[in-house]
Amino acid sequence: MPEQWGTTPQAAEREDDSYLYFAEGLRSFTQKQVAPVMTRIAEAVLAEAPPTSLDDVKRRLDPLPIVASRNRLMRSTQEMKWVGINETYRKREAELLAALDAADRAGPGSVRYDPNFDYPAYFRESRFHLQPGGYWTDPLAGFFYHYGTKVFFTGRNNDDDLQRELVALIPTPADGEVRRVLDLGCSAGQSATALKERFPQAEVWGIDISAPMVRYAHYRAITMGLEVHFAQMKAEELEFPDASMDIVWAFILFHEVPVEIGQQIVREAYRVLRPGGVFALADFPNRPPEQAATVAGYVRDFDTNHNGERFGSAFVYSDFVGAMRRAGFSSVNPDAAPGNWIPVRVCVK
Ligand SMILES: C[S@@+](CC[C@H](N)C(=O)[O-])C[C@H]1O[C@@H](n2cnc3c(N)ncnc32)[C@H](O)[C@@H]1O
Repeated sequence: MPEQWGTTPQAAEREDDSYLYFAEGLRSFTQKQVAPVMTRIAEAVLAEAPPTSLDDVKRRLDPLPIVASRNRLMRSTQEMKWVGINETYRKREAELLAALDAADRAGPGSVRYDPNFDYPAYFRESRFHLQPGGYWTDPLAGFFYHYGTKVFFTGRNNDDDLQRELVALIPTPADGEVRRVLDLGCSAGQSATALKERFPQAEVWGIDISAPMVRYAHYRAITMGLEVHFAQMKAEELEFPDASMDIVWAFILFHEVPVEIGQQIVREAYRVLRPGGVFALADFPNRPPEQAATVAGYVRDFDTNHNGERFGSAFVYSDFVGAMRRAGFSSVNPDAAPGNWIPVRVCVK
C-alpha cells in the first residue's frame, strides 16, 4: 500500500512513494549537509575582497564546485519531485477529477470559482517552484501542490504541522471577538483548515486566484469534516465588504506577487478588517538592498531564477513594513515571533 501522509492524497503505487521519498531525502541532505559547507566556503571566498555587487558575488561563487553541486541538487530535487508527482497522480486522474466534481456540490462549507476567470499576466506567466502548468492550468494542480509541499518542506509538513504552528502564533483582536477569518492565497487550504480548528465558532474563508486550488482546498476540507468556505478571488480585489473580517492571514503569498500587487493586497486587508482587527502574515524576511551582495543574497537570487520564485527577490528587498504603515495599520510588528523559522508580521487596524 502507498503511504498516507496526513490528508495528502495517496500515491498510486508504493514505488511512486519511494521515488518521491528519495527526492525528499536528497533535498534534506542538501539543506542539512551540503548547504552549510557551501556557505562556509562561499563566505571565506567573499571575505578575500568585499563584494561590489550581486553580479560580482555570482562571478566569484558560480564556479566553485560546492556551490554548483548545491545548486544542481536544489534544482534537480524540485524537478524530480514534479516528475514523480505527475506520474503518480496521472494514474489516478479520472478518480481524482471525479472526486473534485463531487466535492464541488458537497459540504460542509462551499466553493465558488469561475471557469472564465481572467488570470492576470503576472500570474499566468509564472511557474512557481517549477510546478508543471503552474498553479492553475492543470485541474489537478491542487493535488500536485499538496504533495509538492510535503517534499519541499522535507517531512516537516506531513500533517499540516507548519500551518497549525503558524496559525497558533496569530494574536486575537484585543476584544477577543473572532467571528470571521480570511486566509489569503490559501492554496491547498492547509492554513484555512488550521484556522477553522483554532476558531471553530468563526466563519472561515480561504481565497485563492487559482480555481484548481480552491476546488482542491474544498475537497480536502470536506475530507476533514471542516466547514470552510473557499472562493476564487484576487487578493488585491477582495469581494468582501469593508470592516467584515476580524482576522486576515496570509502564509507565503507576498513573495509570489509583484511588489505593487502586494501593496494593493495590504490595502485590501486593511479595508476588509474591522477596527481592532488583526492582519498577520508569514513570509520571507525583508532585507536592505545592500545585503543582495552576500551569500544569503546569492541564495535568494538562485531561488528567484531557478525555483520559479520570480518576484521573491523584489519582495525581500522592498519596504514591506512601510507598505503596512502606509496602508493605515496603527501597530506594525515585523517580527511577532522572534526566532521562528519564518518571520511573522502582525498589524492591527
Ligand atoms: C505558496 S502558496 C500559499 C500557501 C498557503 N497559504 C498555505 O497556507 O499553505 C501561494 C498561493 O497564492 C496564490 N496566489 C498568487 N497570487 C495571488 C493573488 N493575487 N490573489 C490570490 N491568490 C494568489 C497562488 O495561486 C498559490 O496558491
